[in-house]
Amino acid sequence: MDLIAEVDDILERHHRPAKAAMPALTAALAGAPPELRRDFAALAALLDAHLHKEEVILFPAIQALGRGDTDVGHHVLGPIAQMHVEHGQLHELEARLRAGLDRAGDATLALTAFLDDLALHAAREDETLFPHALARALDRPVAEIDLDELVAGVTGRADRASDPPPPRAARPTEPRSPRPAGRLRRALRWITSSR
Ligand SMILES: [Fe+2]
Ligand SMILES: [Fe+2]
Repeated sequence: MDLIAEVDDILERHHRPAKAAMPALTAALAGAPPELRRDFAALAALLDAHLHKEEVILFPAIQALGRGDTDVGHHVLGPIAQMHVEHGQLHELEARLRAGLDRAGDATLALTAFLDDLALHAAREDETLFPHALARALDRPVAEIDLDELVAGVTGRADRASDPPPPRAARPTEPRSPRPAGRLRRALRWITSSR
């Protein structure tokens, strides 16, 4: 996959239209019930921050990978995991808004189109861009990439970070993993240690 072209196409087909649509939809929903407006405001705030993080942090790193810069490889793991988690949060809000579409009045068609594109956009990143970027970063076949395993590893890092560290003498010895995904695990441990 051409990672540079894929990122550029996602920016053009999904990010730019979404950023243009959010203020227009906020205005169009002015007469809608408060809970619908509240859900849309929550989705818009989350999506606005999400798009910014992709555009400023993750996508430049993926495009650098696409240019053959392998030094950035391990830096995409944490951001991809975070974006995947946020896609799940966006999906929950999307489902709530779809359930209230019959109360969106004149904004129904525009809101439906916006939600349809959001679903397509997130699926394109989760199912195509992120696996291919991880495959490049970890030098593994894309078929071996498991996005949920990555998220579980990074979530585990967050959990451990909130726990007080054990006394140095009592710290358990790092187990030697016999599993073939050792490179991914080593990469995740690298994130853990650099946090
Ligand atoms: Fe995106
Ligand atoms: Fe995204």
